[in-house]
Amino acid sequence: MNNTINLIEKLYKTHSLELCEYEFLIKNRNEESAALLKEYAVKERKKHYSNSVFVRGLIEISNICKNDCYYCGIRNSNHNCDRYRLSKEEILECCKEGYYLGFRTFVMQGGEDGTFTDEWLTDLIHSIKQNYPDCAVTLSLGERSKESYQKLFDSGADRYLLRHETADEHHYSKLHPDELTLKNRLECLKNLKEIGFQTGCGFMVGSPYQTTKNLAQDLKFIEDFSPDMCGVGPFIPHKDTMFKNHKAGDADLCCYLLSIIRLIKPNILLPATTALGTVENDGREKGILCGANVVMPNLSPMSVRKKYALYDGKISTGEESAQSLNNLKKSMNAIGYEVVVDRGDINNNL
Ligand code: 5AD
Repeated sequence: MNNTINLIEKLYKTHSLELCEYEFLIKNRNEESAALLKEYAVKERKKHYSNSVFVRGLIEISNICKNDCYYCGIRNSNHNCDRYRLSKEEILECCKEGYYLGFRTFVMQGGEDGTFTDEWLTDLIHSIKQNYPDCAVTLSLGERSKESYQKLFDSGADRYLLRHETADEHHYSKLHPDELTLKNRLECLKNLKEIGFQTGCGFMVGSPYQTTKNLAQDLKFIEDFSPDMCGVGPFIPHKDTMFKNHKAGDADLCCYLLSIIRLIKPNILLPATTALGTVENDGREKGILCGANVVMPNLSPMSVRKKYALYDGKISTGEESAQSLNNLKKSMNAIGYEVVVDRGDINNNL
């Protein structure tokens, strides 16, 4: 009897495993288990999304951040980081170009920049929605109060991405300074969901001090929280952080986890992340082939792209950029998938 295969069958049928079973599945990863997970994951993603790949135009609106997450290149105490903040006009210009290219979701991502008041953001969201009523607006701007999230939602924002980073409190404290807590992070995620955002969590694969059990905890958290979206990419060291000498996360393990997450929640919106495309040339294609269904090309102005350096070597002007959408379409076609012009909301109908 092969326990790994049995667990995959159980996961495929019930969308749930015990914590120790997730841990076993990760510990005993081998070619056979990876192949079966991938086969089932693709079957599920096709049931819900056919061979469509959703694209999101990622606009990195500021690299100014009050936080000091130990792994992140734009953390507050990195004095080598060349800081910038886009103006409303610059952001609208990105949307204009993105719309023309075929994007129908704009993701505004940035550090926790104090100038992003509720007033400033609601005005921006109103303008985007007014100009592009057929587009979805996703925000990825970190932790805010419930009242603030409510205002952003009321002004028209559709989705919010806030990676939980790790579901283990002790591990969380090894990656973040004391003022940042897992408790608060999870409170924010709960609030976002209650308000009605399509909500995304996520974590890094291979972050410093991460154990297999921690990854199992992440999977169990995803099962319990049932997010609409989940961002999972390998950790990549940044030279100006205390983790500069740690090694990057493993792309194959990342893909294995993507397949598992697809089976936990078959209709989840699951990106093949830029970090995955950074650690391996064909990382994004691999991610799609393992059950991911979203790609987030970079729409930020060329002049700031290098400055939004969360980690070293982040691809920014090549195949991952929004301007290379035609190449992305071709590479997706080559593996049997199709980039679609669509808001790409979660499919709750099946
Ligand atoms: N390597 C990979 N991902 C990172 N992020 C931040 N720093 C790194 C890094 N060094 C991820 C975090 C964050 C998201 C915006 O980027 O998970 O939530």
